[in-house]
Amino acid sequence: MTVPGELLLYCRPGFEPDLAAELADKAMALGWQGEADITPDAGFVRFITAGDMPANALHRALPLASLVFARQSLLALPPLSLPREDRLTPIIDQVVASGWSFESVWQETPDTNEAKALGSLIKALKRPLESLLKKRGALRRKAGGRRLHLLWSDGDQVQLGMSFPGNRSELPGGIRRLRFPHRAPSRSTLKLEEAWHEFIPRDEWDERLGEGMQAADLGAAPGGWTWQLVQRGMHVYAIDNGPMDKGLMATGLVEHLREDGFVWKPPARLDWLVCDIVDKPSRVVAMVQRWLVNRWCREAVFNLKLPMKRRWQEVAHCLSGLESALADAGVRHTMSCRHLYHDREEVTVHVRLLD
Ligand SMILES: C[S@@+](CC[C@H](N)C(=O)[O-])C[C@H]1O[C@@H](n2cnc3c(N)ncnc32)[C@H](O)[C@@H]1O
Repeated sequence: MTVPGELLLYCRPGFEPDLAAELADKAMALGWQGEADITPDAGFVRFITAGDMPANALHRALPLASLVFARQSLLALPPLSLPREDRLTPIIDQVVASGWSFESVWQETPDTNEAKALGSLIKALKRPLESLLKKRGALRRKAGGRRLHLLWSDGDQVQLGMSFPGNRSELPGGIRRLRFPHRAPSRSTLKLEEAWHEFIPRDEWDERLGEGMQAADLGAAPGGWTWQLVQRGMHVYAIDNGPMDKGLMATGLVEHLREDGFVWKPPARLDWLVCDIVDKPSRVVAMVQRWLVNRWCREAVFNLKLPMKRRWQEVAHCLSGLESALADAGVRHTMSCRHLYHDREEVTVHVRLLD
């Protein structure tokens, strides 16, 4: 079996330099050498390990859940340029030559408008592709849960990658599509819902997002995030100078306080802090840090807005500052940060206190 020499990671178009910078930093910290190959707005990044360093160890050492800007992480073979009259043969040959076998095949495209036009090609190739792979023994019932991914960036450009259970997104394109709840006051509501799917296992929702819990929503208006908390039956302090949605206020579960979210203190320990204030990331982090060090909440979800150019550097700086402040204060916790599908120029951070 050949060991592939590169990683292929999907991201939001426009965030390739951020993902590349993140990968370079994290790989270097682990003692790996390699280089990111990016095309602006392509929606993916290749990370090619130096010399004959096998990429599979790096793939395991950088789990998808630990990466901020990646939506999907694959161990990949070199990209293929295909003749239009026979696209399948080079694909099948590359799979067979690699010696790997798979339980399923996913054909995907980057999250770009141009790539969406490839839908009919992908559909037409599905059955012949699967039947040829089966015939050649590369697609079988048992293959360690491995999945083969074909990332089509054009009608004649494809890159093959593989994913492994426990270190991949189980969603096509790594994208969690959510239906907009029509009674919610703003589209931002989907950011908090996606954050819960991302950070809280479904079987823990009743315990960690339970009825009767208490939450604060800083920068709450018009109420998209508060709406999610209220849907779970929580009591919410909604902190914002702006107006809150009337229907939401009529539930009786929301107390609207026209105060400054950066200085407001809760009257007692709460279960949740959520914050979607548009301000400098360092200012938001300093405020959340005060909440966590004082244990004013058990869990927090907050967004860091990233209008600047060097987004990875900003995120890394904020997260490492928060990590060390919590360590200095002896606050045991878990922390994750992800660029969610419903996030635009921002990332979402989740912190859970352990004591
Ligand atoms: C992006 S919006 C929040 C949207 C909200 N999450 C939703 O789903 O409807 C940001 C909000 O932060 C509020 N805001 C800005 N600075 C604030 C501060 N210092 N304290 C409280 N709210 C603030 C703004 O008034 C604005 O309503």
